[in-house]
Amino acid sequence: MDPHFLFIVCQRGAETVLKQEVAREHPALRFAYSRPGFVTFKVPDEEPLAEDAELRCVFARTHGLSLGNVQGDTAQRMAASLWQLAGDLRLDHVHVWQRDAAMPGEAGFEPGLTPLAEEVGQIIAAGRPAESARRPLPVNRVARSGQRVLDCVLVEPDQWWIGYHRAAAMPSRWPGGVPKIAWPAEAVSRGYLKMSEALLWSRLPVAPGDRCVEIGSAPGGSCQVLLERGLRVTGIDPAEMDPAVLEHPNFTQVRARPVSLKRREFRAFRWLTVDTNVAPQHTLDTVETIVSNPQVRIRGLLLTLKMPDWELAEAIPEYLQRIRDWGYHYVNARQLAFNRQEICVVALRTRSLRRPPAPRQRTRRTGTPRQRMDHPLEP
Ligand SMILES: C[S@@+](CC[C@H](N)C(=O)[O-])C[C@H]1O[C@@H](n2cnc3c(N)ncnc32)[C@H](O)[C@@H]1O
Repeated sequence: MDPHFLFIVCQRGAETVLKQEVAREHPALRFAYSRPGFVTFKVPDEEPLAEDAELRCVFARTHGLSLGNVQGDTAQRMAASLWQLAGDLRLDHVHVWQRDAAMPGEAGFEPGLTPLAEEVGQIIAAGRPAESARRPLPVNRVARSGQRVLDCVLVEPDQWWIGYHRAAAMPSRWPGGVPKIAWPAEAVSRGYLKMSEALLWSRLPVAPGDRCVEIGSAPGGSCQVLLERGLRVTGIDPAEMDPAVLEHPNFTQVRARPVSLKRREFRAFRWLTVDTNVAPQHTLDTVETIVSNPQVRIRGLLLTLKMPDWELAEAIPEYLQRIRDWGYHYVNARQLAFNRQEICVVALRTRSLRRPPAPRQRTRRTGTPRQRMDHPLEP
């Protein structure tokens, strides 16, 4: 087994911006192949990637070392070819998923596991050669940090891309980099999915009773998630909140824009979230005027930065530096699976404010050099 290629899965439409990011952050990787939502790169022999390598790429939803692709006329035959590629790789999990069919939120599409992926996963697990099947391989379960995952991306129903990775940061533990989030009937907007994922990914240490302010809160899906967590939430938005949110005893609306509030009115809040449909520069200007007030002690931020024009993505490193300059030393960004043409930024004043990591499993390291980004919010 000698993986010379890396595959990266991203949002449909984000391939170009992902390629630019890879060229900037990992110049040794050479673009090889792409389909909407799926891109591969050649890894140079002299700079191999470790199987738990992190990428400094906001737009990479998940990635792995490629073993090649299989094609065929039946899933059973393709599964047999897959196991030939996997050889005697010791595995803890298999993750199988389809590349996105559309932009999240478009025509009812949401990323995540499909019936086809589940079915193919079962066929793959059942077709595992007896000699390597010491115990059943879990299919599409969340992996623990340190476990090795066989990846099967259904790039087309009859063309699967096979790879593997060792789970490390949170998204690398989820099948296809997408957390399983139940979307309850009472959720009033997609903001419910975005905020649920943002909290899982960022491990922002919110606790019941904490006070949080959201700028751009209407109609209120994201506030519902915060309220479910027991937070006391203030929503700032000139638009109408959904009555289901307004009626919650721990919710208060300020029906205005933040410019109309005195900065010191933000003194009471521990957390600030922003989800306004304005340009990133405008979002950052608003947040800066709040957090730079000496009476305001907001510990953590979750910001949605809209990218109506993909060219704005070039400025992401500057945006993150600007946030660090406000005194938030731990800053990280990701295009969440449930984001649309936008990214999520988490910022914390101090490392000690992180939520404790999930228990990490002891593993043997491979001989390849580890390439880790400065990933302050992960263990
Ligand atoms: C994407 S929606 C927010 C969705 C919301 N977070 C949810 O989960 O349902 C964007 C909101 O930003 C609000 N908005 C735009 N500019 C604003 C500003 N300067 N201050 C406050 N809200 C603003 C809009 O009225 C709109 O309701």
